[in-house]
Amino acid sequence: MTYKLGPLDLKSPFVLAPMAGLTDTSFRRLMRRHGCPMVTSELVSSTGMEYSFQKSLRILAFHEEEKPVGLQIFGDNPEHMLEALRKIEALGADFADLNLGCPVQKVVRRGAGAAACRDVPKLYALLKQAARAVKIPVSMKIRTGWDNDHKNAVEVVRAGADAGISWVAVHGRTRAQGYAGTADWDAIGEVKAKSTIPVIGNGDVTTPELAVERFKTYGVDAVMIGRGALRRPLIFEESAALLHDGSYAAGAPGNNSFIGLIREHRALIAEQHEGHLVPAMVHARKFMSYYATGMRGCHELRKKLFEYDDPELIWNEAERFFMQIYNK
Ligand SMILES: Cc1cc2nc3c(=O)[nH]c(=O)nc-3n(C[C@H](O)[C@H](O)[C@H](O)COP(=O)(O)O)c2cc1C
Repeated sequence: MTYKLGPLDLKSPFVLAPMAGLTDTSFRRLMRRHGCPMVTSELVSSTGMEYSFQKSLRILAFHEEEKPVGLQIFGDNPEHMLEALRKIEALGADFADLNLGCPVQKVVRRGAGAAACRDVPKLYALLKQAARAVKIPVSMKIRTGWDNDHKNAVEVVRAGADAGISWVAVHGRTRAQGYAGTADWDAIGEVKAKSTIPVIGNGDVTTPELAVERFKTYGVDAVMIGRGALRRPLIFEESAALLHDGSYAAGAPGNNSFIGLIREHRALIAEQHEGHLVPAMVHARKFMSYYATGMRGCHELRKKLFEYDDPELIWNEAERFFMQIYNK
């Protein structure tokens, strides 16, 4: 059984959301190994790529085992964006994703991110050029609208489809909401019902049960999971098993599959940051804190993680914590 997204044939319809500072090459590789059928990089500035490509290359770097992998750009300068798309194609990415949903003030102030969807005719002209600039698929990621009075996702997706965009991911919040409130899946369902291109629904999916329910109820082509994967990194494997077999073996913290995943993550981060202890440590702390969220003793664990400045100690402490949780 495969799920089609443009030219991609995916083994399951549950995919990782791009998250700045988190979905770097090591985490993407980890998720690809654990049931996530495609991955996308965090947003990269197309103007940054124009002026300091060598610096951008660090974020744009991906490993073969991530494929299919997409690289995401944002920007307000059409020339820089088109050039960035060509560079992404030259780097060998499987698709390029346009960030049209970022709510951050310094991004929208310049008309980039979510602000780009406010003027649909202007956006259409850009999307048309973008889709023609490269042979690889160009996708886009949007929100439901600017605010409650300006929910124009249906119109934006129609413009994208007419312009030649291959698929769209819709985060069910407006820009005004930021990450507050809840994702509006009815709005996502409406976009899907009216769209001629594949639609990925996104927002607040935290369990395999929710992932499957959202997929089946709203008719979307795929479900995108962000923060849920940080707390439950086996969610892609579990959701696919639930969809295909009707049940899943819970990869609870402390059991073999979860501890195995932590060890793999440790090795991947070490490989990515070889010889650079500080970024390796920052990543170890960040992910171990996310993985432990909501568990008994997570605050004490976090305190300890931030006391240590050696990645080895951090990983050992985290492993001990998760093993204890399981054995209780
Ligand atoms: C820390 C963080 C960083 C994010 N960075 C990006 C990004 O670089 N590009 C993007 O399109 N969306 C980004 N997002 C939005 C997510 O992709 C996603 O749309 C949002 O978190 C809602 O999905 P979720 O409820 O499954 O997390 C980010 C979200 C978070 C929490």
